[in-house]
Amino acid sequence: MSQSNPFKKKLSEQHLKIINSVESAVKTTGMSVYLVGGTVRDILLNRSPLDLDFLIEGSSDTQYFANLIGGTILQESQFGTFKIDFEGEIVDFAFSRQESYPTPGQLPIVEKGTFRQDLHRRDFTMNSIAIAVGEDGEFSTLIDPFDGENDIREKKIKILHDKSFQDDPTRILRLFRYSGRLGFTVEDSTKNILIRDLHMLDILSPDRLRNELQLILNEDTAHLSLKEYVNYDQKMYLFDGAKINVANLIKMDDEKVKSSKFSEKLKFAILALSTPIELLDGCISKFNFQSDWLDIIDSVFELQNVRKNLIEPGIRNSDLFALLNKINENVLKACLIIDGFSDVKDVILIYLNDLENLSIQLSGKDLIQLGVPEGPNIGKILNELHVAKLNGIIFSLDDEKDFVRKIFNKN
Ligand code: CTP
Repeated sequence: MSQSNPFKKKLSEQHLKIINSVESAVKTTGMSVYLVGGTVRDILLNRSPLDLDFLIEGSSDTQYFANLIGGTILQESQFGTFKIDFEGEIVDFAFSRQESYPTPGQLPIVEKGTFRQDLHRRDFTMNSIAIAVGEDGEFSTLIDPFDGENDIREKKIKILHDKSFQDDPTRILRLFRYSGRLGFTVEDSTKNILIRDLHMLDILSPDRLRNELQLILNEDTAHLSLKEYVNYDQKMYLFDGAKINVANLIKMDDEKVKSSKFSEKLKFAILALSTPIELLDGCISKFNFQSDWLDIIDSVFELQNVRKNLIEPGIRNSDLFALLNKINENVLKACLIIDGFSDVKDVILIYLNDLENLSIQLSGKDLIQLGVPEGPNIGKILNELHVAKLNGIIFSLDDEKDFVRKIFNKN
């Protein structure tokens, strides 16, 4: 395997093996195979691509293709894209296609197409480059009809035609995602079209909007993407006109956020706390937030409701626990990171450090053994024990037992 080939240098042995296997499997079938999209962009950027994106020309039968290369189809879409488990690695494949957008912002009508047509239907020049995979895995031919390599060199994000954002407004948010991740700027003519078409964000379905927002939040550079978005969009279409606190967004870069296991949720909590509260309700339907994400927004409202109670002088730990236990932990952690919550920071710290995980040792069964009759009293006593422990009245297991005995006047 020649390591002098510049495209190969950034590919792992495993990726090279997969490319060779795919190529030799399709060799006599009349199909052609290309690497495309993010894979090629990353190779040209001298970054190791995380995954392989193959474009296949000359077939549209996923099962036939999977059998041919000896892989298992894991997922298929209506657009001719599919994921195959191939030699233990999940690889993205797509049959070349062309797209048309009869209604702006709606999903496209997809038809079979040549690989060149497939390059033409894409979002940005940097993603519209292919590398032909040739004989014996030798690949060195770059097919770059839009001069994407040059834009990559100049660190520019450029659309292929001036209807691009209207056809697919998710590209607006993809642009900010890439600008944050790659540190690229927006090419001049694209900039004008972007500003002209920002309002197209309004016609995207909640699910597509949410998906793109989550993809941005998944990036380490989410703060840069959102900051850039705020710079561009004076009308804040994404947040129904809400003026987002940008200084807070930058805190998404905080070490505490980066090291968090639920980093994207913590970033979302920062975003929710940085949005004027009167506009948050609208955001729920705009993005159709569900489950954990909805819980974060609900918690921002809850925090607002209990904020005054939290700072009442002499508040007992058990009351603090009752108030803060209802609030999503990411929202509490976000309050410690961003500005504007200095009034509640101390109590949140007490809760997270000392109270949240403070539990009693006795169980319901233990209470029965201590002579408490079965029934609703058990739950009540366990709760009283927890309150006493939170308030520093009892500490050890013996204290807990004494406490129970006292309740029953057994001492
Ligand atoms: N694409 C597009 N328009 C979109 C979404 C995707 O043209 N709205 C094209 C782009 O050419 C992109 C390819 O489909 O390169 C694959 O999309 P995706 O997997 O989202 O992006 P990647 O390029 O693989 O980039 P990433 O590194 O973010 O995964």
